[in-house]
Amino acid sequence: MTQPALTESEKSHLRALAAEAAAHSYSPYSHFRVGAALLLTTGESITGCNVENASFRLTSCAEQAAIARAVTQLGPQIRLRAVAVANLNDAPSMPCGACRQTLAEFAPDPTPILYPGEGGSPQETTLGDLLPHAFRAEFFT
Ligand code: THU
Repeated sequence: MTQPALTESEKSHLRALAAEAAAHSYSPYSHFRVGAALLLTTGESITGCNVENASFRLTSCAEQAAIARAVTQLGPQIRLRAVAVANLNDAPSMPCGACRQTLAEFAPDPTPILYPGEGGSPQETTLGDLLPHAFRAEFFT
């Protein structure tokens, strides 16, 4: 089902939630503090931050943490209406490849992804642009 476009105020609210979550980041190794905020099709918002580990590959990205939290709190039927990513390092950042695939499990290609560009400028794209031809369950189920 197509969702109505987000208003500017919904977008800035979602970006602010992501920045708030970034303040909780556990990132003693990279010092890159990332937050993600998911707006669900139900209107609920769920956030996550990156959680690093001394065994570096065990690090959980902010987007993955938010998805795990959303499923845990609300159940496996969650669907995303929009996602915002923020960092407290004044750096441009969009979801990494693994996070794009994680988000695609719960969101269709047109889902808006809000992220900071150069100089923290608010940028917007879609999941389909970030992960074209995503590997999806419908291919094998
Ligand atoms: N990170 C995220 O939280 N999300 C991304 O999409 C990209 C990377 C985190 C992982 C690690 O803690 C830090 O940023 C540096 O890679």
